[in-house]
Amino acid sequence: MFEAKEEPTRHRIGVFDSGVGGLTVLRELYRQLPNESILYFADTARLPYGTRSSREIVQFCFEILSWMVQQDVKMVVLACNTSDALALDALRREFNLPILGLILPGARAAVQQGRRIGVIATPATAASNAYRRAILEVEATAQVWQVGCPEFVPLVEQNRVYDPYTAEVAQQYLAPLLQQRIDTLVYGCTHYPHLSPILREILPPHVKLVDPAEHVVSAAAQELDLIGLKNTWSPLPTRFCVSGSPQQFAKLSLQWLGCTPSVEKIQLSTASPSPIPLEPVD
Ligand code: DGL
Repeated sequence: MFEAKEEPTRHRIGVFDSGVGGLTVLRELYRQLPNESILYFADTARLPYGTRSSREIVQFCFEILSWMVQQDVKMVVLACNTSDALALDALRREFNLPILGLILPGARAAVQQGRRIGVIATPATAASNAYRRAILEVEATAQVWQVGCPEFVPLVEQNRVYDPYTAEVAQQYLAPLLQQRIDTLVYGCTHYPHLSPILREILPPHVKLVDPAEHVVSAAAQELDLIGLKNTWSPLPTRFCVSGSPQQFAKLSLQWLGCTPSVEKIQLSTASPSPIPLEPVD
């Protein structure tokens, strides 16, 4: 397939997540930036990220970014809040290309909706306090409650969205937020919009849902305009790569993509340790 090396506007945008969560960001990219070509990577061999240590997450992100840079991407969108919460700053120091995360655009969107803000996220994202910090930086009068939801990602990846057990678990995770009478709920993990039919049933109708995917893609569009890298040609088909089973990813993602993608298995280089100075966080 022809990929113009000399024409940087035609290079792909790299998008990654641990699994199918990032498809919620991909969906937004298709909607808002239909001319862009995408390289989607899912680190399915190592999911879930949200119960791993900061050290592991930074290392994984470093490996993924190193590979994406070799693939000549022009920008990276971290379609994974956990990676944003724990690795974004380190990645920006290390890699010389635009790298966008979900948390700041999500925080900005949340304060447009309300002041009593609940955030559901992976345990690692919730423990990092990244959403609380970002929201309070934008709007100091907001109140923020964060809940870590360790079971959600495995349930989505096991295709159990409509399993009654998932609804039970969701009730438990949302109960403390409803007790605080939140007016806004942020999907602090990209897997969670896949659960929206379940969550919407539990939440009172006045609670507004914020999907940071929508807002990180608007930020990406602005950034591409600013740096003159928006693609005006027709896009290449999305390249899907995984570290685990391509068949499993293709089968699971069919329901969200509307077609069965062709998926490559790739081996990330784990040979060299991350040169990123790791803080003793755990
Ligand atoms: N979807 C990712 C996030 O937004 C990661 C979930 C996981 O692997 O735990 O945090």
